[in-house]
Amino acid sequence: MKYNNEIHKRRTFAIISHPDAGKTTLTEKFLLFGGAIQTAGAVKSNKIKKHATSDFMEIERQRGISVATSVMSFEYKNILINLLDTPGHKDFAEDTYRTLTAVDSVILVVDSVNGVEDQTRRLMEVCRMRDTPVIVFINKMDRDGKNRFDLLEEIENELKISLHPMTWPINSGKDFKGVYNLHDKNLLLFTANTKANDDDTVAISDLSLPVLDEKVGEKDASILREDAELIEGVYGELPVNDYLSGKVAPVFFGSAINNFGVREMLDTFIRIAPVPRPRHTSVRDVPPTEDKFSGFIFKIHANLDPKHRDRIAFLRVCSGKFERNKYFHHVRLDKDVRFSNPYTFMARDKDVIEEAFAGDVVGLFDTGNFKIGDTLTEGENFFFTGIPSFSPEIFKEVINKDPMKTKQLEKGLLQLTDEGVAQLFTQFGGNKKIIGCVGDLQFEVIQYRLLQEYGASCEFRALPYYKACWITSADPKKLDEFTRFKSNNIATDKDGHLVYLAQSEWFLNTERTNNPDIEFHFTSEIHKEAV
Ligand code: G4P
Repeated sequence: MKYNNEIHKRRTFAIISHPDAGKTTLTEKFLLFGGAIQTAGAVKSNKIKKHATSDFMEIERQRGISVATSVMSFEYKNILINLLDTPGHKDFAEDTYRTLTAVDSVILVVDSVNGVEDQTRRLMEVCRMRDTPVIVFINKMDRDGKNRFDLLEEIENELKISLHPMTWPINSGKDFKGVYNLHDKNLLLFTANTKANDDDTVAISDLSLPVLDEKVGEKDASILREDAELIEGVYGELPVNDYLSGKVAPVFFGSAINNFGVREMLDTFIRIAPVPRPRHTSVRDVPPTEDKFSGFIFKIHANLDPKHRDRIAFLRVCSGKFERNKYFHHVRLDKDVRFSNPYTFMARDKDVIEEAFAGDVVGLFDTGNFKIGDTLTEGENFFFTGIPSFSPEIFKEVINKDPMKTKQLEKGLLQLTDEGVAQLFTQFGGNKKIIGCVGDLQFEVIQYRLLQEYGASCEFRALPYYKACWITSADPKKLDEFTRFKSNNIATDKDGHLVYLAQSEWFLNTERTNNPDIEFHFTSEIHKEAV
């Protein structure tokens, strides 16, 4: 328990959203509040622009920049906040899923005009799998958005989470007048580009007071009174424990670009967001308060620039103290490793660090020792679980174009898939190599890197699959029968686990119905056995 103070100071989270909902803008406002940046616009370079989708080198260049802002640490009211960035581009969704394994909570940004969008749904699924506490920020209230009650209903239904309004908006678009803070009982009046000074806040302990009519006009005052009565009647006080267990999400309304409603959320965040949480391992749960160090790798970033061929492994510290130059145990390789230049991230600068504590993220220079999910300890043999592989969505067969370089191709494929760029499958009973990705862009990246880094050239042939399901059964005979009968659709993943490749939802459902003894899993998490 030596490091209790350090642990209680820390909050590690990610902001997630569908692209364009306002994640970058909100991040920037947080950093401004935390004093980590001084001017608006500083975080913009982090964003992969939509029009760059056809040029992956440009995207990589921008991702290179984004490494520096992958983790932004700043202090706010004596709390050390680690904000983990997630790529907005949908082709990098796997990166985002993995980043979610390294945080203790998330803030989900929803665009008030567009409501729940595709990417939001998937990200929430990952949060739900892990019971991650979620705070919702409904952004762009300065634009004519959906009706606020409809929006809440849509979010609840689509994201399958109960909401708890913390602030309540008065209109939207050009009639947007501000938000009423149901918890603090004050009214925050909207002014564009506001610094959200305290001057804009009117304390209203009792909404029936005439000051409300003075501030927002009689009509809106009476609507707010009705809304507030209804909401308070339905919701009451925020059940913080339900938030912490991922069942209830507090909701804030605001406008990130106008820095409006952001401070209210940040203040609530530091009050209720979880400190670093205990983590499951293959052997036992590891509390953050344990004196001995442990952590895991959740992301590997390789630089595509041939002049800077560095790989950075991102380590989430789960317990104890990480120290520079100290030997730690790399469980999978069963060897001791140490790091002379581990670094941490303070907004845009990288700094070599001497020590880090539970909740922190450390960047480690890697020469190929790490795979996603690797665990470091002070000697104990366990690995952290809950770092699943998700089913890819696009599948292509790898065609070797240069038989003289077969070895290089195989090595390259293994290493790139260790980094988490894509997943590699081998056709059952055959040799066919199949690459599965979430986005088309990854195929270009793989092809380019195989040639540049391994001298291997390949092509891809599209395969008609839509999902990979890991299959298991309590009855080995049934599994064997299914595998042989469906051998055209069966492959093994890198760890030798069986996978069923489904052509369509219909095929998948049919197989599930026809084979009740076979279990179909959409993530490979279940395969983590004890070491
Ligand atoms: P993202 O990271 O989630 O992809 O979104 P980002 O913050 O980049 O915001 C997407 C667009 O929405 C940006 O405009 C941004 O200025 C705008 N925006 C963010 N918050 C608000 C808000 O509260 N109200 C309004 N009206 N707009 C908001 P853009 O034109 O796409 O980019 P830019 O030219 O401003 O950089």
